[in-house]
Amino acid sequence: GRDVLGLGDFSAEEIRLVLSTAREMKNIVGRDIKKVPALRGKAIVTLFYEPSTRTRTSFELAGKYLGADVVNITASASSIVKGESLRDTLYTIEAMGVDAIVMRHKAEGAAAYAAKAVSPVIINAGDGAHAHPSQGLLNLYTIEENKGKLAGLKVAILGDVLHSRVARSDIQGMRKMGMDVHIAGPRTLLPRFLCEEEGVTIHDRVEDALEGADVVEVLRIQLERMKGGLFPSTREYARIYGLSEERLALAKADALVLHPGPMNKGWEISESVAYGVQSRIQEEVKNGVAVRMALFTLVLMGGKA
Ligand code: CP
Repeated sequence: GRDVLGLGDFSAEEIRLVLSTAREMKNIVGRDIKKVPALRGKAIVTLFYEPSTRTRTSFELAGKYLGADVVNITASASSIVKGESLRDTLYTIEAMGVDAIVMRHKAEGAAAYAAKAVSPVIINAGDGAHAHPSQGLLNLYTIEENKGKLAGLKVAILGDVLHSRVARSDIQGMRKMGMDVHIAGPRTLLPRFLCEEEGVTIHDRVEDALEGADVVEVLRIQLERMKGGLFPSTREYARIYGLSEERLALAKADALVLHPGPMNKGWEISESVAYGVQSRIQEEVKNGVAVRMALFTLVLMGGKA
């Protein structure tokens, strides 16, 4: 199997294979009895150095629905607390005969380091602000399922791009699939040079990015990564950059609203938009299980993802 470190390593054809496999997996997620034996006898460890609700749980369920044995390691409840290094932790997991490690870490490049250090397949579940490939794939899946296509669609990505591994993976995946990517937010939270390299259009006003958009993705303000706090203040942010119903009306009438979660409601997104008819935020979570089942199937059954 191959490692899944970032969508920069995926071709458009490989992304299409993940999305088509996920469509088959979604049928299994919808059944009363979800378990299939595809990965029976395989062992998967989730290794999370940062908190998670969606990603960890959906990877765990994805593995279990496919019949694999899944064990979760949370840094705060492991020997990492006693000072065990990342390398020794990986060696320890490898020694138990594990086939795949799903890993989240605060350091950019941690998953790539793990992929070099040990033999199990490494799936990056988020490394600092660098990449979150399974989230990028589930966003593409959700967009394609709702719109019937990806190429040519205009997407507006709003907010804290600077700290967002989700935005990095989205931008790479969306560009590969021929989408027209626009980003907007406070200049303090836009990595201008990187975004220009990725071939996206940058706006200072969210209104300009939203104009005629087919998809609007709102990012979480990542306060925990801002040593100096949020600038502008949360109240100012909501007023100038937050996705309200009035602002959403600038996008196409049938535009989808996405947010990777968890949300700061009232800051980057209003309650009414988050739970409104255009929101697909809960669907993203549902699709996350199917997309992660597809990834496990492709990397652990010898298929080329
Ligand atoms: N979207 C996402 O990564 O959420 P969690 O941090 O809850 O896994």
